[in-house]
Amino acid sequence: MNNLAERFASATIRVDQDVAHSLLLTGATGFLGGSVAARLIADGRAAALLFLVRAATPEEGLERLRDNLRLHAVGEDELECLNPQQILCGDFLDTRWLQREQARLMRVEQVINCAAVASFSKNPNIWPVNVEGTFAFAKAMSRSGRLKRFLHVGTAMSCGPQRESPVRESWDFPDAEQQLVDYTASKAEIERRMREQLPDLPLVVARPSIVVGHRELGCQASGSIFWVFRMGFALESFTCGLDEQIDVIPVDYCAEALVTLALKPSLAHSLYHISAGHDAACTFGEIDQAYAEAQGEAPVGARYRKVSPEDLRELAGDFESRIGKANPRLVLRALRLYSGFADLNYLFDNQRLLDEGIPSPPRFTEYVDVCVRSSQHLSIPAQMQWDFK
Ligand SMILES: NC(=O)c1ccc[n+]([C@@H]2O[C@H](COP(=O)([O-])OP(=O)(O)OC[C@H]3O[C@@H](n4cnc5c(N)ncnc54)[C@H](OP(=O)(O)O)[C@@H]3O)[C@@H](O)[C@H]2O)c1
Repeated sequence: MNNLAERFASATIRVDQDVAHSLLLTGATGFLGGSVAARLIADGRAAALLFLVRAATPEEGLERLRDNLRLHAVGEDELECLNPQQILCGDFLDTRWLQREQARLMRVEQVINCAAVASFSKNPNIWPVNVEGTFAFAKAMSRSGRLKRFLHVGTAMSCGPQRESPVRESWDFPDAEQQLVDYTASKAEIERRMREQLPDLPLVVARPSIVVGHRELGCQASGSIFWVFRMGFALESFTCGLDEQIDVIPVDYCAEALVTLALKPSLAHSLYHISAGHDAACTFGEIDQAYAEAQGEAPVGARYRKVSPEDLRELAGDFESRIGKANPRLVLRALRLYSGFADLNYLFDNQRLLDEGIPSPPRFTEYVDVCVRSSQHLSIPAQMQWDFK
């Protein structure tokens, strides 16, 4: 009798766990995905989560996840509540795990897909991961009768050059050769393929603009892109003008918006920018003021020189004295890559997001001091490595 009762109890626990793991999050060992996980856990949804992690075993995957969530200020008690059954080991480069994990995948109700190779440099894994692996994953999920939403994280920059700013959400993309880098080309291609070839996938695409820091943690979890601002002010030169607006959002705001888009029972659209838009974007000059105040220095102001991408090379002689020891070739390459996007001078319209009841983001100038404080221990070239891993 006891034995039967135990078997029944253990079966119930197993079923409950499976039912509980209804939200699958990918990319949770990264910047955006880590912040999404932290938000979901803070909202009391930890038990509902299943994480796709690259790891040999669920235990190793859980350790990798916990290490990242600590950077996102998730407490030890909450980390202890996560367990290896919530880790699904898998890689978009080799998708044989999709077959192995089919049963668990078919019980998922929402996916938030943050996993990608998010790099502006030439990385041979960009296309295999961001297009082929992501498509295989989306195709497997499209066969599920239980899936209510597949929220795919794209990038606003996949719209390509020559758009009118503010850029409105559109499914039209330029040809891949017109895209500035392979990364944006891959992000455009996967959206196109999922829409055209997977009609049964309950697809919603969220395209964040430029994600920099966190309102309370600054650059603790990632210094991605913040080093570009530091470098511009240290060199007193970059390719954008002081009066040009830049569309920046903090990662915690982006995560809140993603969670709402994943869980809201119905949405008016299937494509959203997550961006500062016209009202919350700051000019480079305003950022200079706030940055200088946080540093306890005078703004660059009148000393600032807007240079053309071709003239960036002239700055190389000053690199060491202004930004510290660095490989000038790497710094120059990084500045060129990022200046390409800065020169587009885009704002991304966010009216659709606001109409869903999601509040406007904070302005970058409201939390730039937190980013400055959390970066003080790190040289600019060292922080640059976040984007060239
Ligand atoms: N950061 C931004 O400013 C920004 C702006 C717009 C859009 N986005 C989009 O947001 C998403 C997340 O970007 P992020 O900045 O958070 O990037 P990130 O910090 O580099 O994180 C990328 C995540 O994807 C995972 N991943 C990479 N290759 C994988 C593979 N082969 N199989 C499975 N998972 C893999 C990584 O896992 P490992 O830890 O195992 O490497 C990591 O968890 C991307 O889709 C990106 O396009 C980012």
